[in-house]
Parts: sequence; C-alpha cells; structure tokens
Amino acid sequence: MTSFADVQNREAPLSLTPGDDYGAIREHFKNVGYTKEGLRQATHILGLETSANLNVIEVERRLPKEGPLRELIRLFRLGQPLSEKEATSAFLPFSIKEMVRLGLLFKDDQGYRSPFTLNLHEDLYVLGDQPSEKPSPHHVIRLNPSAVVTAAMTPRRTVASALDLGTGNGIQAMLAARHAQQVIATDINPRALNVAAANARLNGIANIEFRLGSWFAPVSDDRFDLIVSNPPFVISPKSQFVYRDSGQPGDVICRMVAQDAAARLHEDGLGVLLGNWPFIPGQDWAAEPKQWLDGCHVDVIALLNQQADPLGYTIHWQGVEHQTWESLAQTTEQWLAYFRERHIQAIATGSLIFRKRANGPYFFTGYDIPDVPATPTVGEHLLCLINHHDRIRAMKSSQDWLPMRLRPHPALRIEQTLTPASGRWEIGSSQARLTTGLAFAAQLNAITQGLLIHLGQASKTVDELIHELSSKHNLSLERMGQTCLDALQYWLLHGLIEIA
Ligand SMILES: C[S@@+](CC[C@H](N)C(=O)[O-])C[C@H]1O[C@@H](n2cnc3c(N)ncnc32)[C@H](O)[C@@H]1O
Repeated sequence: MTSFADVQNREAPLSLTPGDDYGAIREHFKNVGYTKEGLRQATHILGLETSANLNVIEVERRLPKEGPLRELIRLFRLGQPLSEKEATSAFLPFSIKEMVRLGLLFKDDQGYRSPFTLNLHEDLYVLGDQPSEKPSPHHVIRLNPSAVVTAAMTPRRTVASALDLGTGNGIQAMLAARHAQQVIATDINPRALNVAAANARLNGIANIEFRLGSWFAPVSDDRFDLIVSNPPFVISPKSQFVYRDSGQPGDVICRMVAQDAAARLHEDGLGVLLGNWPFIPGQDWAAEPKQWLDGCHVDVIALLNQQADPLGYTIHWQGVEHQTWESLAQTTEQWLAYFRERHIQAIATGSLIFRKRANGPYFFTGYDIPDVPATPTVGEHLLCLINHHDRIRAMKSSQDWLPMRLRPHPALRIEQTLTPASGRWEIGSSQARLTTGLAFAAQLNAITQGLLIHLGQASKTVDELIHELSSKHNLSLERMGQTCLDALQYWLLHGLIEIA
C-alpha cells in the first residue's frame, strides 16, 4: 500500500523506459471519448477538460452511467479512488498492474487513485499533480490560467530552436515543438522534468530535450529563436512551492529571466515572459519591466493583465494554501509586512513579448488588457503589432503615409449603438472592434468611420482618401490629413488595419 504523500514526493513518479507505450494510452483516451468534444458531449459541461474549480456534485450527476469515460473523469478530474472493477474498466485493454507500473495509478486504503490530473489544451494531453491540501514542495502544477496566457501570447511562427524555461508539466515546450525544429525544456525540479517527458511521450512528441538545472545553467551560452517562460513570479516572503516562489526578493526573478533571455536570443528572436512587478498607483505601470529590459537590445510589448493592492494580492495567493483562519491571518500579516518594508503599494500581473535586434532605436509599448483571450491568434496579433511598429518607426515624416494602401483586418467589425429619441432611432456611439487576437477596439466619429469604410471599399492611397474626405466634410486638407493620420496610426499600432 502506498500513501498519497509518498507518491507526491517521488522525483520520478512516471516510468520512462523506452518500451513504455504512452502512444497506445493516448489512443485509448481518444477512443473512449476523453477529448474536449467527447467530455462535453458526455457530460454537457463546458471546460471539464481544463477547469480548476469543478463543482463535484454537478460533475458526479452528469457523469455517464457507466464505462471507461466515467471512471477516467472520476480518476483524473475529480481525484476520486476507484474500485478494482472500476479501475479495470477505465483502462481496458491495459491492465491495472501496467498502469501502476507506469505510475498513472497507485493503490491506497481507499482504492486505486492517480497522483495526476489529466487536462487537455488544444488537443494535447497534460498530466499535472492532483491538487492537495498539503502539496509537496516539488508539486508540478497542472495546466493553469497563467500557462494558458503564456501559450496564447506565443507567436507560432516556424523557428529552428526554442527554449522553455521552467517547463513544469511541459505545456509550453510541447506547443513550441509543433513549430520549432528543436526544443530544450529546463526545470530545477526533477519531478517536473519526469512528468513533462511523460507528457511529451503521451502526445507523441519527440523533438524536446529535457535538461535539469537552474534557469539558464543547463543551456550555458546557447542562443535561441524563441524563449518562453512562465516562471515562479509571485512576490512574497515565502519559498514554499518551487512552481510559485522563486526564493528571490521582489521581482528579481522576472528581471533576471527577462535580461538573460534577451541576451540569449538570436537576431529577430522572440522572448515571451509572464511576471509580477511592483508599481506606484497612478504612475506608469510598465516602469519596472521597461527598466529591466533597457539596454538589452530588444523591442518590447508589455501587457498589463491585472493589478492588485498588497492585501488583494496576498489573499489571492494564500488561497492555494488551505490554512486555518488563524494561520491565514498570520501569513497575511507576514506578507503585508514584507510589502510595507519594500514600499510596495501595488503589484502588476503582466506579460512581455520582446524581439531582439542588434541595432536600435528600440520601442517599448504597453497595453492594458484585463483578459488576454485564450486563443493562439493573440501571438499572431502581437507579431503583427511588432511589424506595424517597425513600419511606423521607419517613416521619416508624415509624407511617408501618403502613398500607403491600407485595409481593415478581416476580423474587424464596426458596431453601432442605436438610441431611441423622440419616436425614432438615432445613431449613438460607433466603434471598430477586432474579433480576433487581443480584441482591441477604437471609438469612431463621423470622419474616422468614413475613413474606415473607405479603407474597406477601395484600395486607394492614404493621400487619395484624405482628399476625398476633405471635400466631403468640407475640412481643410491639413486638418483632414491630421485627423486621418492620427486615426490610421492608432489603428495600425493596435492591428485594426493592415498594410495592403
Ligand atoms: C509557474 S510554473 C510554470 C510551469 C509551466 N511552464 C507552465 O507554463 O505551466 C514555474 C516552473 O518554474 C520552475 N522553476 C522554479 N525555479 C526554477 C529554477 N531556479 N530554474 C528552473 N526552473 C525553475 C518550477 O519548478 C516550475 O515548474
């Protein structure tokens, strides 16, 4: 008999011998319907494959009445123990003995259980440690929202080399393996590397090399086309969980990862980093990352995803520790004292994408995006913004706009609000909104709406459009030119329009 704590503390919980047929297990999961669509059809629950906050009562009531899918959901999503008969049904044609040997199952006094959750992201299977009241310090975090944001932000252009720094369950490395010839995934936690390697085999991915060690030590001075990291960025006095706490003060870890990653990028290489940093309310929220990357030969786009005061931040991160009220009060005071000592008044949660270039000048731009949509089009959008910045930076004067031909992004929509006014409907506000990527929007007035509609109808130069609109609205060419160029620049820098 094995205890859950024993299994959680194993450095190599999953067998990785060459003959282990993880591919056949993946096919089994697919065949019995353990897929995003299969789970939805069987239970009518949206997001069962990813949600961290499942309502156990609802899931139990919506489970299929019998069969392997029922038992796999109980095992991998609800963390429930299975009887011998149920465990047999879950994995047939594989034997329970084989699943125990691989490490997917263990037996305790309640029955057969799994140390792992099994999530799906896109169509990748992702094993991660089951949540527990007392997670081991080497807990391998399961698929989680910050991993999904990191994944969404990463442009999926074809590259030769990629590095996933602090790979955890391996999700970023597995996604990179689809568009990078070779991926290196590093972690200081041997358990994480074991789980990540098993995940790669479960998904039939063979171009990831896993290396144990702290940050860049396992790659010495190698350079990469893409470096992705979702590091343990939480700012706290704790060093409790290797996935959460870096053991470094303040935002030192994010600064270090950002600067060292920038130094290891090839020309035109991209870095993607999630992080937390302090800022002073009412002042520039991006001052800190701007300073991290100043002098690192990179252009940077920073996204602000959330901001919190020290108490809100403390309570959010304490949530995972399942303490008593007394110990929660104590730890909260400890965290707040830590923030007071460092004069930290607010903490930003954000993400950075940076692009290496030997020669400047460099740009740093920030966007306040409370919810980064969990779609791969975000990475594409960010790449398009970088290209548009390049184009605008290359312009010597406003004259350079005039011969350009621009067009709306195909996923742009114009939305108007109609308001009732004395028996008829009046057009109220009007906005242009992207239905893809970061879903940026811009308010329109009569002139800018006309400009956008013209961009969609004819492939005219900016100069021709300014002339047309100037006579239509009876405005001087100079004023119309300024209005149009301001709007076009804003739209281009947000990816609402493209260069034709
Ligand atoms: C927040 S988790 C992210 C895991 C995964 N990349 C993801 O996106 O879900 C941070 C990871 O960094 C790893 N880590 C912590 N300290 C490290 C260090 N000094 N060197 C390398 N990796 C480290 C942790 O073990 C953990 O797997």
